[in-house]
Amino acid sequence: MTRPEFTLTVATSADGLISPTIDTPTHVWASEEEQALFFRDVESADWAIMGRHTHEAADKPERRRIVFSSSVSGWQRPTQLWLDPAGLDVTDLVDRVANVRPLRRGLILGGTRVHDWFLASGAIHKVNLTVEPVCFGSGLPVFTGQQASDPVEIFVSRGFELTEEATLNEKGTRYYELIAPAHDQEGR
Ligand SMILES: NC(=O)c1ccc[n+]([C@@H]2O[C@H](COP(=O)([O-])OP(=O)(O)OC[C@H]3O[C@@H](n4cnc5c(N)ncnc54)[C@H](OP(=O)(O)O)[C@@H]3O)[C@@H](O)[C@H]2O)c1
Repeated sequence: MTRPEFTLTVATSADGLISPTIDTPTHVWASEEEQALFFRDVESADWAIMGRHTHEAADKPERRRIVFSSSVSGWQRPTQLWLDPAGLDVTDLVDRVANVRPLRRGLILGGTRVHDWFLASGAIHKVNLTVEPVCFGSGLPVFTGQQASDPVEIFVSRGFELTEEATLNEKGTRYYELIAPAHDQEGR
């Protein structure tokens, strides 16, 4: 079986938060440029993986989604599988969706505990990070218990290496790509 690749696509505030509340859709505060990159990544993925709140904040019945939940499980729509990831690993996700569409390129869409699960699984191969020039002050972190508020440092302090950076617009939206070093050493 070809080893699946998982990309974490995430937008943060300048103070390192992914949302001010559990039900604020990202497009409310993110730039057009961020949204374009987000849809680029959605289009190129076989499956997107997200938590229940993120799914409910932008319900798209036709999309291929794996939705993490401890309260609902099974195929809720022909292309939407809900499951509790406790005790599972990445191979289990691949196996469960294989008959609908092979999971070769997975897109990790959050929120916090979904990021935690993939980080703990060592399965975040690449990070596409957009940082908007806004501060929330309080809200949801990228990872549980994160200390850094600088968005790039949140990943660098966890071993990711910065490979690309760019400014996306005149407002100062920044875009970064990072990779997991162990993954890079294994070769792709
Ligand atoms: N800026 C960004 O890039 C970005 C990315 C993602 C989300 N967001 C925003 O963040 C907010 C939602 O984030 P969130 O962290 O509150 O929620 P979330 O991860 O989308 O949803 C949390 C729920 O998902 C389930 N879940 C998640 N991880 C699980 C795990 N490891 N095991 C079992 N169940 C798990 C649980 O559902 P049950 O209660 O059913 O057990 C949990 O209550 C929304 O406003 C969304 O728009 C922003």
